[in-house]
Amino acid sequence: MRMINVSLRVSIFLLTLIYFLCHWVLGPKGRWDAPLLPQTNISVLLWYWPFSQPLGLDGDVCWDLYAIPGCHLTDNHTRFPEANVVVFHHHELKTRRWRLPHHLPRPPAQKWLWLTLESPATNGNLTPYDGVFNWTMTYRRDADIFMPYGELEAKRGGGGYTIPKKESRLLACWVVSNYRSRQKRTRMYQSLKKLIPVEVYGRWSRKPLSSQELLPTISRYHFYLAWENAISADYITEKLWRNSFLAGAVPVVLGPPRHNYEALVPAHSFIHVDDFNSTAALADFLRRLASDKEGYAAYFEWHRDYDVRLRTDWRERLCHICERYNHLPAHKVYNHLDTWNRW
Ligand SMILES: *[C@@H]1O[C@H](CO)[C@@H](O)[C@H](O)[C@H]1NC(C)=O
Ligand SMILES: *[C@@H]1O[C@H](CO)[C@@H](O)[C@H](O)[C@H]1NC(C)=O
Ligand SMILES: *[C@@H]1O[C@H](CO)[C@@H](O)[C@H](O)[C@H]1NC(C)=O
Ligand SMILES: *[C@@H]1O[C@H](CO)[C@@H](O)[C@H](O)[C@H]1NC(C)=O
Repeated sequence: MRMINVSLRVSIFLLTLIYFLCHWVLGPKGRWDAPLLPQTNISVLLWYWPFSQPLGLDGDVCWDLYAIPGCHLTDNHTRFPEANVVVFHHHELKTRRWRLPHHLPRPPAQKWLWLTLESPATNGNLTPYDGVFNWTMTYRRDADIFMPYGELEAKRGGGGYTIPKKESRLLACWVVSNYRSRQKRTRMYQSLKKLIPVEVYGRWSRKPLSSQELLPTISRYHFYLAWENAISADYITEKLWRNSFLAGAVPVVLGPPRHNYEALVPAHSFIHVDDFNSTAALADFLRRLASDKEGYAAYFEWHRDYDVRLRTDWRERLCHICERYNHLPAHKVYNHLDTWNRW
């Protein structure tokens, strides 16, 4: 009797195990769903180049330049039928330079990807694109493919860093090309410059800086006004990553709330204008910090652990799609792209 009992239990155990194994391999619907095996040969078709600036795609670009295997990047329209992902950069749709290929039969598994690095206000009305795209690639953290203007990477090897030499009279600078009197940042500049010296470069002040001059010029100042032209979730641009962090000037940021910045960079790597009740309080703080050697140096401590990394080559951004491909939903449609964009 006892023997039967034991073999019965063993059988029940084995049957249960087999059931769960089948479930795991075949999925809940009881049929073979391919996604269990990651796709390793992905074809990404760029329908046209962002801002009409083509780059070379000869050879295996993703592998040769970025060591990303099995990722085929092309801009050849004849590849449409076999493309896994087709990429559309928003600027050219908005300006009507390009149209979506609605006339072509769209393979059922193919993903159309909406790409933009602009703020919602710049993107404009997106309702014509509701129900068109499957994936998004933007600077927003909740995009399918998160593509920030920059990121911090843990430092490899020694943790040395130097703070660029500052001239005591050079307090703050700002580079601006599109000056609009109704923006929040413009009003703040107008009141700040009455309290502390703020040097302005760029097209608007007729002191343009070439790309070679940009970082060396900013690095002589204690602070850089990293003021975004639009206030929107996660919209933190090269004004922080390149003009401040890479130049070695402490950023005074105006953009999304402090907690949004802190999700991406250390809390003590920037000064947020919202931390002050008035422009006078901000000006006072900056003036005192510039003459407090230790207090100022504390804003550079994070350089010991991190390096700044900018992604500026569109090819690198596109190759990154393949790295994310197998982690993204196989079936998805943006039925309300406009709402999503403005959220
Ligand atoms: C990868 O996909 C391309 C088409 O997208 C095809 O021509 C090629 O033969 C595939 N390579 C492998 C190893 O499957
Ligand atoms: C595009 O690909 C087709 C074959 O898929 C090839 O015949 C054609 O030459 C390619 N065009 C360019 C511009 O490379
Ligand atoms: C800012 O204003 C709030 C309320 O008006 C006050 O409680 C706070 O102490 C002020 N902060 C500073 C730094 O002055
Ligand atoms: C992609 O979006 C289109 C348009 O809404 C839809 O018909 C298609 O089923 C979607 N494809 C996938 C794989 O999600």
